[in-house]
Amino acid sequence: MSAYKSFVYVEDLAKHVGEVVSLRGWVYNTRGKGKLQFVILRDGTGIAQCVVFRDNVSEEVFELTKSLTQESSIGITGKVVASEKAPGGYELDSSDLKVYQLAKDYPISPKDHGDAFLLENRHLWLRSSRQHAIMRVRSTVVKAIRDFFDGNGFKLMDSPILTPNACEGTSTLFETKYFDLGNAYLSQSGQLYAEASAMALGKVYTFGPTFRAEQSKTRKHLTEFWMVEPEAAFFDLNDDMDLAEDMVEYIVQTVLKTNLKELEVLERDIRPLEKVRRPFYRMSYTDAVQWLNDNKIPLMKKIDGKDVEIHPFPWGEDFGSVQEEAIMEQFDKPCIIHRYPTEVKAFYMKRDPENPKVVLAMDMLGPEKAGELIGGSQREDDHDLLLSRIQHEDLPVEAFQWYLDLRKYGSVPHSGFGLGVERTVKWITGAKHIREVIPVPRMITRLYP
Ligand code: 4AD
Ligand code: MG
Repeated sequence: MSAYKSFVYVEDLAKHVGEVVSLRGWVYNTRGKGKLQFVILRDGTGIAQCVVFRDNVSEEVFELTKSLTQESSIGITGKVVASEKAPGGYELDSSDLKVYQLAKDYPISPKDHGDAFLLENRHLWLRSSRQHAIMRVRSTVVKAIRDFFDGNGFKLMDSPILTPNACEGTSTLFETKYFDLGNAYLSQSGQLYAEASAMALGKVYTFGPTFRAEQSKTRKHLTEFWMVEPEAAFFDLNDDMDLAEDMVEYIVQTVLKTNLKELEVLERDIRPLEKVRRPFYRMSYTDAVQWLNDNKIPLMKKIDGKDVEIHPFPWGEDFGSVQEEAIMEQFDKPCIIHRYPTEVKAFYMKRDPENPKVVLAMDMLGPEKAGELIGGSQREDDHDLLLSRIQHEDLPVEAFQWYLDLRKYGSVPHSGFGLGVERTVKWITGAKHIREVIPVPRMITRLYP
């Protein structure tokens, strides 16, 4: 779309060299003295320098130009000129200016603001060049995910957000009243419904917001985040791991093709991303524990409010970020850890027929301290074993009747996983905190704006 209504976008300026066009946007910056004013305009697609020379405009327009303030909304008309010195390579030799609104005292200036201030002003912070770049990468990541699944025969099947049951443990559920039917819970994962969908359509994915009343105040946790969850009938754990590797490779390589400019704004070293090619690394949980102990990495536990190190790391405990980051130091691309202890994983995972102490689970950890990007598994497809797991976890069997039905009417081996969109964008962009990679973050301590 090069022209819409009567204006063009900055990203299309190259197609209009020599023509008179109008740009619409916001004032990023102004400078100039005497007869020459420079207005740096941003319109969401890019930044363009507009030169306003007094002899080329009316007296009124020149005065108006001098009155412009940061983030005022404007339209500028002028001739497109190629210019090596201008940001983006083109500038506008302006002949007219229209002001939609003069902004007064825009609160975010180029100087350093504290995190709290920026978060309180997230609705404006989004306009900053770093945030703008991150959001464009996010948009590419989401599109790459959809393209990957759509292009590989997966059908999009949306899962409900209001649900009668827990999926990922009862301790992180958001509860809400639901008319006369008691309580509903905000979905922690669309997986259980994706399983029902997979039995109808074979290969499906669900993609939507998910909710966790996470007590974890870390750089990697949100209370509302986006997850894509493929689910496929007749896939075993190996098929699942292959699919996860294919998808992550595709996402990263697509961003490298699409967003080099943004990654440059973010000062992201792209060499580690270029290495993200299959095959990735794989390691069983048991081998990972062995590695931790060979390298003297302990289990960290809070006992009576004190951090205590437990050596050697006991088999059966879940990994935290200390263990994940230590393991990943040795790897230059993602690593899948598989076959975790049954007790640390969700009720729906299938026991390994070769070792019932572990389940056919897999987590993909990212390099560069990215943490867990993916959690997935082969699912328990035996009715009675699944029922006993639901009972063992003290979950209300009635709420899971429909889910148990899937094991009564043509049960098949099947697998799937969930990829956290924000974890992925944080890793690819090199953002320090997950709250920067979703337009409006939700965390335990933040519900505004
Ligand atoms: O490992 P999780 O909890 O797995 C599931 O929800 C499965 N039901 C998925 C499936 O098999 N269909 O979450 C999957 C991913 C994590 O690996 C992480 O990337 C992301 O979701 N995630 C979070 N992202 C941001 N904030 C949080 N609080 C997150 N919790 C999980
Ligand atoms: Mg997980």
